[in-house]
Amino acid sequence: MTETVITTPPAPPRLQVPFLDLGLQTAEVEHEVRERWNRILRTSGFVLGPDVDQFERELAAYSGARHAVGVGNGTDALEIGLRAAGIVPGDEVIVPANTFFATAEAVLRCGATLVPADVDDDFLLDPQDVAERLTARTRAVVAVHLYGQMAPVARLRQVVGPDVLLVEDAAQSQGASRDGFRSGGAGDVAATSFYPGKNLGAFGDAGAVLTSADDVAHRARRLRNHGGVDRYEHLEVGANSRLDALQAAVLSAKLIRLDAWNAQRSAAAARYGALLADAFGDVPELVAPRELPGAGHVWHLYVVRTPDRAAVSAALGAAGIGHGIHYPAPVHLLPATAHLGFRPGLAPRAEAHADRILSLPMFPGITAAQQEHVVSSLHAAVTGRGTPPTVIP
Ligand SMILES: Cc1ncc(COP(=O)(O)O)c(C=O)c1O
Repeated sequence: MTETVITTPPAPPRLQVPFLDLGLQTAEVEHEVRERWNRILRTSGFVLGPDVDQFERELAAYSGARHAVGVGNGTDALEIGLRAAGIVPGDEVIVPANTFFATAEAVLRCGATLVPADVDDDFLLDPQDVAERLTARTRAVVAVHLYGQMAPVARLRQVVGPDVLLVEDAAQSQGASRDGFRSGGAGDVAATSFYPGKNLGAFGDAGAVLTSADDVAHRARRLRNHGGVDRYEHLEVGANSRLDALQAAVLSAKLIRLDAWNAQRSAAAARYGALLADAFGDVPELVAPRELPGAGHVWHLYVVRTPDRAAVSAALGAAGIGHGIHYPAPVHLLPATAHLGFRPGLAPRAEAHADRILSLPMFPGITAAQQEHVVSSLHAAVTGRGTPPTVIP
């Protein structure tokens, strides 16, 4: 008698798609960074110094601002930039309601009054809503270039006039452009973050203040260094928030590759756009992001909107697809701002976005196969039908 053995064929390996994969970028710069780091280790010049000076010059030239001042992180960059530009306690500062909390946090750390405003359908500060919130005490408006697309800086400038500071939160937008400006070069002062996952990311925390005003740059240099540029000179209460040479060396090595990496993000965004149009042509429940006319979007995040986000998120998780929510609550509805008495309804579009937004995997080097897996899983999750998208070359 022969025995029949039934074997189950092994399941094909499931394609995992990380939300962010920094490994490819790290590998590209590793050799150069190690050489730069070896030189710094030999000199023991770890804080500020020639590598920081060099990176500051390179970043200023890249952004179209006259000065860049390296600091410890993007949140400090915002606070130092605001203070250096003259924000004092009691000033009103308008910020978009949909942003990372640090934008609001920096305003509050300055002792200023936080004035959240609504955003538009592209997640960016709405100039019309800003106009309605201007008062005699408004001193600044913070244009957050969210997800990699610049806020409407020319229009905002028109709306606020010459006496209100236009501040850029350029943490998510290195290399972006709009209205003829580069991110970081459009406002009176700008702040950026080099948190590792940013388009230009360090190997740890780092940030920079950008400005074309000599006096603002000088004050920012003072504020990052205990209130004085020279040792033991303390002209005011500042902070210990200097850029490390090791991070500056990483950032110089990465800055020369930033445009190429941003081009890869743009190509990935175009592929998502084509795949989503193909898969969701007849499905209104999925709204894809867009690049605005006259804007150079650098796709820090690729954020879609869907009404049943919790179910879609669970399905993507089950399919091995990393994703995020940026951000689950607008700044005026967070526990940290509860004492300020803001109410739901203050920024209706930002509040609606917060319930629907979902960030898909996006990073230089994401493959076509990974993006197809993301979109077919998304299609199955949103429609309950598992139709794979057409493969776009
Ligand atoms: C829009 C925005 N503003 C500010 C920050 C703060 O930067 P950091 O994390 O370097 O303090 C970030 C980044 O996390 C950000 O995304």
